[in-house]
Amino acid sequence: MATIVSLGLGLLFAVVILLRTKAQLTVSAGPQLFTYELVKEYPHDPNAFTQGIEFDRNGALEFFWESTGMHGQSTVRQVELETGNVLRSKALAPSDFGEGLAKFGNKLYQEVWQSGKLYEYDINNFDDVKTLAGPLTDGWGITTDNKSLILSDGSSTLSYIDPTTLAVQKTLQVTDGGLPAFALNELEYVNGEIWANIWLTDCIARIDPATGIIKAWIQLAQLRTALKAQNIQQTYPMDVLNGIAYDEATGRVFVTGKYWPRLYEIKPRLQSASPNPLELLEVRRRCLRSNSGT
Ligand SMILES: *[C@@H]1O[C@H](CO)[C@@H](O)[C@H](O)[C@H]1NC(C)=O
Repeated sequence: MATIVSLGLGLLFAVVILLRTKAQLTVSAGPQLFTYELVKEYPHDPNAFTQGIEFDRNGALEFFWESTGMHGQSTVRQVELETGNVLRSKALAPSDFGEGLAKFGNKLYQEVWQSGKLYEYDINNFDDVKTLAGPLTDGWGITTDNKSLILSDGSSTLSYIDPTTLAVQKTLQVTDGGLPAFALNELEYVNGEIWANIWLTDCIARIDPATGIIKAWIQLAQLRTALKAQNIQQTYPMDVLNGIAYDEATGRVFVTGKYWPRLYEIKPRLQSASPNPLELLEVRRRCLRSNSGT
């Protein structure tokens, strides 16, 4: 009897240990996978090659600060959320190709592609602008944790810079499954995480700022294909998903794309909390990039 009980207990322990090991393996195996729920759609200027959006409000007026790119089409602008109307806009020089945009205090910081320079605007007057010589040689995306400006340059590294001295304070290598994640583009600080569009993909990476590890992927391919299928008449063909904005007060998340005639409020929806190896292979094939080129 005693032997049977101890045998039984031994088996039970073995099973418990096995299950725990498996659970730990699954937990450490990789990022969570999200799809999305479409909450609301808004009009968006189809001639805006969107490079960065920042949600903001002034009393009852909800709007975005937006940066657009392309030579001869680059602007910094203020855009009403509800209507998509451009309330204010300032054109950049035709030699400038606008990139990411972040708001820090009463200033907007706009990057320029293939350049280290940053434009610093007073939010109340786009003509009050300073040209800053940033420390990097390329500008893609930008966000802030209200201490540093956080910059991407198409590589797998984010650079934290001091907004006053422009000195690099630290860099953060972004990885998924131990591999560097390249082509980090538009960035947004969301609820203690850094969210990044991965250029040429329909994926948003949710990055842990403490480790650089991608904690989750949000896959939005359906958003682009459904919009494209509407065949909305426009001058320029729709380009990639790009642009993430967060309204901290309400928790709303907004996304759009380059030359997209719509802007969307979405809610990430959990698809898999512990994806199996096949799911991981698939998401990494779609979302993870091993270089910054086309
Ligand atoms: C930075 O400050 C602004 C204005 O107070 C606030 O809305 C925003 O949530 C802050 N961002 C972070 C990442 O703390």
